[in-house]
Amino acid sequence: MQIYKYKDYNEVSKAAAAFVIREIVKKPNLILGLATGTSPIGLYQNLIKAYNDGIISFKEVRTFNLDEYVGIDKFHPQSYHSFMHKYLFDHIDIPPQNINIPSNDLKNMEQLAKEYNDKMFGNQRDLQILGIGKNGHIGFNEPGSRLGNMTFIVKLDDQTRIDNSRFFDSLEEVPHYAITMGIKNIMFSKKIILIASGEAKADAIFEMVYGDVGGQYPASILQLHPDVTIMIDEAAASRLEMTSNYLTF
Ligand code: GLP
Repeated sequence: MQIYKYKDYNEVSKAAAAFVIREIVKKPNLILGLATGTSPIGLYQNLIKAYNDGIISFKEVRTFNLDEYVGIDKFHPQSYHSFMHKYLFDHIDIPPQNINIPSNDLKNMEQLAKEYNDKMFGNQRDLQILGIGKNGHIGFNEPGSRLGNMTFIVKLDDQTRIDNSRFFDSLEEVPHYAITMGIKNIMFSKKIILIASGEAKADAIFEMVYGDVGGQYPASILQLHPDVTIMIDEAAASRLEMTSNYLTF
């Protein structure tokens, strides 16, 4: 685990984008795992800028999103399908057939989860981008999730629904279920980059780095991955014992 500390959200976003840009330059047909939430928005803005500046192209990049809400239409403004188009896909040259987001069609969820899973196993991600929930969730792998899970339907934690209610008109509108890559899928990525900022993430970051590996803070499993880079701001790093801006284990 390599941990880099930056002044604020903007610096984290720039550094994380530089990391992703390097990977795309090295391998134009990168298989990239994508995350939603506030954390990666700045990173995506910097990727769009690099695309507009002619530094990278997404023509050959293939993407797999971590998760999607269940119970709202994919065109609902708060679906992760809409999020990805708004903050990234509508501004770059990625061919639509290269985009993969878990389907949230209620009719056949188990089968759809299996298909998403099978597709990922045939397309190992080169790089997975992650955020982290206040309760230590990654994707929508909530506390108590089995570490061996592959793509599955999850009942969302109360804390997660409260945290995410800021995007909806009311807490009641926040879906109770989601489809998410399991921990096993996330760990199957060759490289992982996790970004976080703000005081509210400090406990989750602390548990991810120093906590017991297990289901209580699901991100703690990342201690066992061979190639993880954590990019966080000073507030999110406030509980780590860092004497410089870099820490490695
Ligand atoms: C959501 C997503 C996660 C994300 C997390 C943190 O619930 N499913 O993938 O990492 O929230 O979001 P934010 O970056 O907005 O704090």
